[in-house]
Amino acid sequence: MPNTPFDSREFRNALGNFATGVTIVTAKGKNGELVGVTASSFNSVSLDPPLILWSLDRSSTSLQAIETASHFCVHILGDAQADECMAFAKSGVDKFSELSCDEGLGGAPLIDGCLGRFECRNVVHHDGGDHVIIIGEVERFVTREGNPLVFFRGKLSAIAPEMDGA
Ligand SMILES: Cc1cc2nc3c(=O)[nH]c(=O)nc-3n(C[C@H](O)[C@H](O)[C@H](O)COP(=O)(O)O)c2cc1C
Repeated sequence: MPNTPFDSREFRNALGNFATGVTIVTAKGKNGELVGVTASSFNSVSLDPPLILWSLDRSSTSLQAIETASHFCVHILGDAQADECMAFAKSGVDKFSELSCDEGLGGAPLIDGCLGRFECRNVVHHDGGDHVIIIGEVERFVTREGNPLVFFRGKLSAIAPEMDGA
């Protein structure tokens, strides 16, 4: 039985009101396996030192590889990358068989066509209940122009036009 005093689906739906971007986090595990996970939990933490965070479900089949990798790479997805988003949200499949990726720091696969890419040293892991909170120190990054893929109320969408006066 869950330990929460409320319905977990309602809790999840309430959290879904917070619109986020979407990332794919990739890494090369200690045994050379390439893993990648779609993650909307990405956020910035610190400018100096340059730190970011994201959280990974303990049930993820990529957990062990990501926990032991020296580095991981966070890719911020653009609005033309919904297919990549869904492909990397599948569990336990080889997500790289049809992709040709360059190798980043620590061997993390680098996916093309993203709005931003942050190559991070895998520095700290914190307990986050059924997730692990992973903090990375950014060692290298690239960005490019474009509009982001957005995740809101359980659905992917594109960003709204700019608000008047913003
Ligand atoms: C838009 C979106 C955002 C997601 N965000 C996260 C996240 O932040 N953390 C997480 O652990 N899983 C997240 N998931 C689910 C994982 O991508 C999914 O469980 C994935 O299949 C795990 O793969 P693995 O078992 O091969 O590691 C998200 C899925 C989608 C579609």
